Amino acid sequence: MANKLATVRTVADLRRAIATWREEGLSVGLVPTMGALHDGHFSLVEKSTATTDRTITTLFVNPKQFGPTEDLDVYPRNEDADAAALAERGVDLLFAPALDEMYPEGSVTAVAVPGIGDVLEGAHRPGFFTGVATVVTKLLIQSLPDKAFFGEKDFQQLAVIKRMVLDLDIPVEIIGCPIVRESDGLAMSSRNAYLNAEERASATGLHAALADIAAQIIEGGPVTDAIRAAKNQLLNRGFTKVDYLAVCDPESLEALNSVSGGARILGAAWLGKTRLIDNLAVEK
Ligand code: PAJ
Repeated sequence: MANKLATVRTVADLRRAIATWREEGLSVGLVPTMGALHDGHFSLVEKSTATTDRTITTLFVNPKQFGPTEDLDVYPRNEDADAAALAERGVDLLFAPALDEMYPEGSVTAVAVPGIGDVLEGAHRPGFFTGVATVVTKLLIQSLPDKAFFGEKDFQQLAVIKRMVLDLDIPVEIIGCPIVRESDGLAMSSRNAYLNAEERASATGLHAALADIAAQIIEGGPVTDAIRAAKNQLLNRGFTKVDYLAVCDPESLEALNSVSGGARILGAAWLGKTRLIDNLAVEK
């Protein structure tokens, strides 16, 4: 029988467990998640277990990063299955706090990352990155890991967290990990579970649209034309709305009208009630 994963629910218990490891001179990796774990999450876990002595995964569906009309209430939750999968993959500790442990009554402080947090996702999901930055700051300060692992699937989130860690002098190395995709190119996401069969068939179009933009840029076509064509392509393939398609500087995420060197193509689009995001590197 697989080992049951040790689970703590309070910051005090988390810190006690980590203190014991630190006394032994062990290094610590942190993998923050909102659960409903899939191979994308597991790739971060594997990177952590391979490069640190002890790995903590956190599971907390953070209400501060959901807007009033977003999917907080229906966000998939399955702690038992997640814990079993993490135990199998060599995770040492699960931190799964309740809401009032993370945000006790009276808690008001928020971490804002303006600029890089205001564009793209930030423009379409007001308050989202403040919610993310606040909870990630808390998780980092609660555990003080050597390394924390985040996916490039949420490329802007990774950039916001890197900026924040730099600005707040949080002593942790932020490690970005490549996007894990289904065999047809769809980026893995807990939210893919919302898609019906028809939507799932269309969903691969987002990655295809980003790849088409990349191909046109490499051929030397104008960025604006490539984006316009890709947007039409998405709408023709069953997407109901395109929030944005953008070609950006990979560090600042400022929009680029022409590419020389490296750039990142980012997109967000809706299939019915489900919003998908994806991104792709391009090098010219
Ligand atoms: P969540 O969506 O659960 O994702 C947790 C981590 O897994 C993030 O760093 C995300 O980028 C990474 N991830 C998700 N899908 C991936 C994929 N297909 N390939 C590679 N990595 C992938 O992102 C969050 O939670 C939250 O905002 C969080 C950082 C936990 C703060 O609440």
